[in-house]
Amino acid sequence: MEERVVSQVAYGTDDQLESSIRPIDFSQYIGQGKVKKNLEVFIEAAKMREESLDHVLLYGPPGLGKTTLAMIIATEMGVNIRTTSGPAIERPGDLAAVLTALEPGDVLFIDEIHRLPRSVEEVLYPAMEDFCIDIIIGKESTARSVQLDLPPFTLIGATTRAGMLSAPLRDRFGVHSRLEYYNKEELSQIVSRSGDLLEVPIDKEASVEMARRSRGTPRVANRLLRRVRDFAQVQGSGVISLEMADSALEKLQVDRLGLDEIDHKLLASIIEKFRGGPVGVEAIAATIGEEANTLEDVYEPYLMQIGFLVRTPRGRMVTSQAYEHLGVEVPDSE
Ligand SMILES: Nc1ncnc2c1ncn2[C@@H]1O[C@H](COP(=O)(O)OP(=O)(O)OP(=O)(O)O)[C@@H](O)[C@H]1O
Ligand SMILES: [Mg+2]
Repeated sequence: MEERVVSQVAYGTDDQLESSIRPIDFSQYIGQGKVKKNLEVFIEAAKMREESLDHVLLYGPPGLGKTTLAMIIATEMGVNIRTTSGPAIERPGDLAAVLTALEPGDVLFIDEIHRLPRSVEEVLYPAMEDFCIDIIIGKESTARSVQLDLPPFTLIGATTRAGMLSAPLRDRFGVHSRLEYYNKEELSQIVSRSGDLLEVPIDKEASVEMARRSRGTPRVANRLLRRVRDFAQVQGSGVISLEMADSALEKLQVDRLGLDEIDHKLLASIIEKFRGGPVGVEAIAATIGEEANTLEDVYEPYLMQIGFLVRTPRGRMVTSQAYEHLGVEVPDSE
């Protein structure tokens, strides 16, 4: 039995690894202190009143732990979680089916909630506010609207683009939690914790180095750990030392700040093709052959966070720090 568990981990897909290292309660959820403390209070209060938790909106860049947090909230409330996503709910009827299947107190998690069609959103308003929906039965001349009561439930919406949420939807969430990039200490704890769970020994300095190169993002930290682990197993002794981590990260083309090939292409294209900007994201995307959405959701937020990129009304501009990091001379300002 023991052996099988070990070999499953050793030969498992990244997906299986992912679920084996996902924190399952608040005590395992590292960082995000403010968000966590507030949620703990709201959860305790709801439990004391024997009510469902107010609706929660989780927003922030990809990979910071929104889905994980939604699952933890359900666990801490002691209720079931149903998971769906904005693009998966195409028609009002799809949402009605999901809502009417909920049990009292359940969490309904809608990922990418900014992508809900407007017609579906309108069904959500009364559901969130009054726990009821209006459904149309019958056709054409005999069609009539019937109001249906729903059990009290908690909607948890997650989005990387809070700005794209309509105001009426945003306003119906009682709790707004914004997830922040993690600091190096927190990421290093996450790397150590994941290393323990994957049974791979990691030297302290190595976990700090992987943390430094994880773009403030737990998902990136765990991904780097899995790849470095591969190198350590095949080309090393299995132990992740600082030296091992450094050489593996170099092969993975992850630089000292955690920037990868695409970050480099993005910055270099603004510098070389657009004289440092300002330039629109669509033009950058076309130049380097990436999706504008990917650049906006995944790459730009971190480059802005570290002060390499700024958004102006006329487009993106790189900063002198970006020039310096790439080893390009900063042009004289006009
Ligand atoms: N606070 C945390 N402590 C430890 N590990 C974490 C934490 N937050 C996230 N993780 C790890 O990072 C991975 C990514 O987290 P998650 O899937 O919750 O991100 P997300 O914000 O939902 O991303 P996306 O926007 O892409 O949906 C998780 O599988 C989990 O293992
Ligand atoms: Mg998610």
